[in-house]
This record gives sequence, C-alpha cells and structure tokens, in this order.
Amino acid sequence: MIRSSALPAETAAPGVPDLLRARDDFPILGRRIRGKPLAYLDNAATTQKPRAVLAAVRRYYCTSNANVHRGVHALSDRATQAYEEARGRVARFLNAREDREIVFVRGATEAINLVAQSYGSIHLQEGDEVLLTGMEHHANIVPWQMACDRAGARLKVAPILASGELDLAAYGRMFSPRTRLTAVTHVSNALGTVNPVREMVGMAHARGVPVLVDGAQAAPHIPLDVQALGCDFYVFSGHKLYGPTGIGVLYGKADHLEAMPPYQGGGDMILRVTFEKTTWNAVPWKFEAGTPNIAGAVGLRAAIDYLDAIGLAAVSAHEGELLAYATEEVRRIPGVRVVGTAREKAGILSFVVEGVHPHDIGTILDHEGVAIRAGHHCAMPLMDLLGLPATARASFGLYNTQAEVDLLVAGIRKAGEIFR
Ligand SMILES: Cc1ncc(COP(=O)(O)O)c(C=O)c1O
Repeated sequence: MIRSSALPAETAAPGVPDLLRARDDFPILGRRIRGKPLAYLDNAATTQKPRAVLAAVRRYYCTSNANVHRGVHALSDRATQAYEEARGRVARFLNAREDREIVFVRGATEAINLVAQSYGSIHLQEGDEVLLTGMEHHANIVPWQMACDRAGARLKVAPILASGELDLAAYGRMFSPRTRLTAVTHVSNALGTVNPVREMVGMAHARGVPVLVDGAQAAPHIPLDVQALGCDFYVFSGHKLYGPTGIGVLYGKADHLEAMPPYQGGGDMILRVTFEKTTWNAVPWKFEAGTPNIAGAVGLRAAIDYLDAIGLAAVSAHEGELLAYATEEVRRIPGVRVVGTAREKAGILSFVVEGVHPHDIGTILDHEGVAIRAGHHCAMPLMDLLGLPATARASFGLYNTQAEVDLLVAGIRKAGEIFR
C-alpha cells in the first residue's frame, strides 16, 4: 500500500476523511518524480486511475474477453453482457431516460465529431448558424467549423466577460431564425468557469434550438442529470473521470439519435448488407461501427462505481475547498494574476506570473515533483480573447491535498525568484 505519508504533513479539508483514504487507491500517486513525491495537479488533462478500475480491466481480460454481439459462445455472451451493463451504468450516472441514449465513443472529441457530422448532415444548410461560446475547447469548435464549411453555414460565438463568465444576455441575443444548434461547454477547461447550462438550455429551447453540452470537465466534478438539464446531447471522456483512455460517452435524446444517419460504416452498425443497399442497426449500435472498446467500457463502469461510492457531492466540496485555498495562496505571491474569476468555478486554477513564461513555471514545478499544465489548453481563440499566449494551470482531483497546494505555491515563488 502506498501511504499518503509520502507527502508532506497531511492537511486535507476537514469532513472528508474518505477522500484522504482514497489516495491510497491510486498506485501512481506513490511515485517519486525527480526524487520528490509526486503532486499531480494536471487532472483537467487526465486523471489517475484507482485500483478498482485497473482490477476491473484486468479481470475482464482474464475472465471474459471475447468480441461482443457476435459469438454464440459463452465468453462472447459474458463480454456482451459486461459491455451492455456498462452502458446501463452510464445511463444511470447521467440519469438518461433509456440505455439506448448512451453511445460509446473514444472520448468527448469523437462524440462531438459524431454529432457535428451526423446531425449536421441533415440539419445544416447554407446560411444556417451554429452558436458557440468564446470559452470552448478546440474539440467543441473545430468539428462545427468543419460541418459548417461542408454546409455553407457559419459559426457565431457568444462573448465572455473579463471575469471569464459567459455574457449570458449577449448569448441570448445571438440566436437567430437561422440558428440550428448551440454547443456549449459545461465547465471551461482553461478558466474553470461553470456555465449556467440549465438556463442556457431553456433559452435555446424557447427558440426551438437544440443544445449539445460538452461535459468533459464537468462529469468528474458535478453530479449530473441530463433530464433535469434538458440538453439534447451531453458528452464526456472516461479518462478525465478516473477511467481508462479511449472510452467516452455521447448521450443523445432517443428521437435525435433515431433520426440521425450513421457516423461510420462497418461491422455491428448494420442489420443487413448487400452490395446494393445496407440497412442500419438500431440505436445506439447504429453509431458503434467495428469492435468497440469493451475493456474501456468495463473500466469506465468501475470508475463510475468508484466515484459514486465516494459521492460526487463530497468530491466537489473537497475540490472547491482546495480551489479556494489555492486561489488565496497564489494571489499572495507578488506578480501573480489569476485568470478566470467566475463566481462559480470547478477545481481549475489558471494563472500568469509577471515576467515568467508559463512553460518556465511548469518546468520549475516539475523539478519539485509538481505536475501542472502550461500552454493554450486547446483553447486558442479564448487565449486570443484574453490577450494571453498561454497560462499555467493547476487542476484538482479527489485525491489532492492542501499539502500539495503548498508545494505548488512554493514552486511558483521559486520560479518568480529565479526569473525576476
Ligand atoms: C472542455 C473540454 N472539451 C473536450 C475535451 C476533449 O476531450 P478528449 O481529448 O478526451 O476527447 C477536453 C479535453 O481536455 C476538454 O477539456
């Protein structure tokens, strides 16, 4: 067992003893980096994996591995059952109405590409509009740009305020009779801003416009209910939610998915193929061409079980306390400016230090064993809006501690001293 005592004196938020114990569930957190205990603060990029997920994937390969939906043998049955049970688990996690509203994909990026291509092919025409916000990740910009280019449609972008909050009134004014869809992030990966997606869905639906919500940064932090949100599509990635890489989820309302053409062709997504004509399988398999990531789905299910056992509300409260502490401490450092000061934020802290490039901050911190991200965070248009080439970003997960925040703060101070 790796003990959290590998880290400096423990100071996690009071009232969350389960989360302190949870550190031991993540073998990688016991690693030393450059001779220092690892403080992993790059959770918005990807999260580490608990033993429960590693064990579920191993167990699947050791006991049940076969292809799904095809074989007449026992193992194929087991694999199919495991895969479809994982779908059911995701449906409950999101509170989807039906299991068939869950399509397994590689990640949030593929889910958005699927909707942009498939939904876009039947709904976007010349002169139509897709409405985004100024804080979207490239994954929620480029697929729409490509779909618009194909159709002769155009993107419209709702502005954000200096705080990093969406200008909601301006967003409302940007709908037009030509708006065919609005695609918005639930939580900004670069700023941490939590958008009022329920309200935004209400605004869009009042104008008859469907909504895709990019939940890549929300699913690991905020309890979700797609029926309460009312959105038409919701996407997220397994690897940001303590699950494996290469598995993600597209939730779509059944009537949308029914009406949409397939995204890719191949095995499993068909009912009958002749050289003249092919008929499609039912939803959701219509969208899952080829052998899917069965072990990934099994691992994602284990990750959801793991998170649910701890409770997303507790995770969210813990990360909120870390964010508040980190924000206060970082602000005390001379020359530091926090980028993104929205009233409602998830556990993401972006900042710049006067006179020090974010990459240099990242490198100094790496030598202290502290892993953060530095760069444009796949949100170049947002960086342009902010007039910044890059920021440094610390992002928190359920296993992080105040002691790790202290290491972060000490590392930033050191960077400031070295470079100024
Ligand atoms: C807000 C947001 N959307 C989409 C993505 C894309 O996720 P993935 O690379 O797992 O497909 C990310 C990844 O960082 C993200 O932060």
